[in-house]
Amino acid sequence: MADMSGKTVLVTGAGSGIGRAIADRFAQDGATVVCADINPETAEAAAGELLAGGFKALAVEVDISNEESVAHMVETVVDITGRIDTVAANAGVMVEGDILSLSLDDWNRALTINATGAFLTARATMPHLLNSGAGALVFTASTVALSGMRGVAAYSAAKGAIAALTRQIAADFADKGVRANAVAPGAVRTPLSESQFRARARDDAHFDELLGGVIARYPMQRWGESPEIAEVVHFLGTARSAWMTGQILPIDGGLLELR
Ligand SMILES: NC(=O)c1ccc[n+]([C@@H]2O[C@H](COP(=O)([O-])OP(=O)(O)OC[C@H]3O[C@@H](n4cnc5c(N)ncnc54)[C@H](O)[C@@H]3O)[C@@H](O)[C@H]2O)c1
Repeated sequence: MADMSGKTVLVTGAGSGIGRAIADRFAQDGATVVCADINPETAEAAAGELLAGGFKALAVEVDISNEESVAHMVETVVDITGRIDTVAANAGVMVEGDILSLSLDDWNRALTINATGAFLTARATMPHLLNSGAGALVFTASTVALSGMRGVAAYSAAKGAIAALTRQIAADFADKGVRANAVAPGAVRTPLSESQFRARARDDAHFDELLGGVIARYPMQRWGESPEIAEVVHFLGTARSAWMTGQILPIDGGLLELR
């Protein structure tokens, strides 16, 4: 636990998967959690569930790839809560393909939502993180930011950009009281990862076979769970990791180190 009462935590992509688990985790520490998502219904559902459980939360609609929308999100949050202390810049999309199959539109979509979205979120929230006195930014990168994998060239390039951006922000703001770190998850079973395999699968049996193929690559022989990623985001986003900045932490069942 970390006492986050009186603090505001902004989570992008909080309507689903890993983001939703991150929102839940910070709410348990008494923070006001902002559930931001491009899908207003899932953002409302996430915030509504937290409020119903007696936690502090609000929902905001945002498209992280749109400068005005991000500015509006930050304005709304600061109008309501007066501050932003931790940002989990987590929203992202999968775009599949090697460079021969990727169109320029696919490439731009992967980079614009994942990498530019992370930049816009960090830039718009930074003045408030500086005011916080102990601001923390936690990006959701991926193991593909640190190691190659077939068929995800644009997604991997975008996640690599997030890893580099994490280190740059850490370097620029280390002496100003704002830390920047990233998590690099391996395969976590969420709507994002399932849709990836559903799109490739010929039928249900082939879908199960594809999912089994993923697990086989992992030394720990299982998928990651969203709360397991959220726990590390919480660690990096609170004073529990007060002397850590510029780190990209794999959470991957041993994939990168042991294969
Ligand atoms: N699931 C995995 O295996 C895995 C592995 C490594 C990294 N990641 C990363 O984790 C993050 C969360 O992924 P997830 O698996 O929970 O996916 P998900 O699809 O379940 O959730 C992503 C959320 O982001 C939102 N979103 C998408 N585009 C947005 C935009 N432009 N503005 C605001 N919100 C937007 C979606 O509506 C959705 O609610 C992503 O950055 C993803 O790349 C996932």
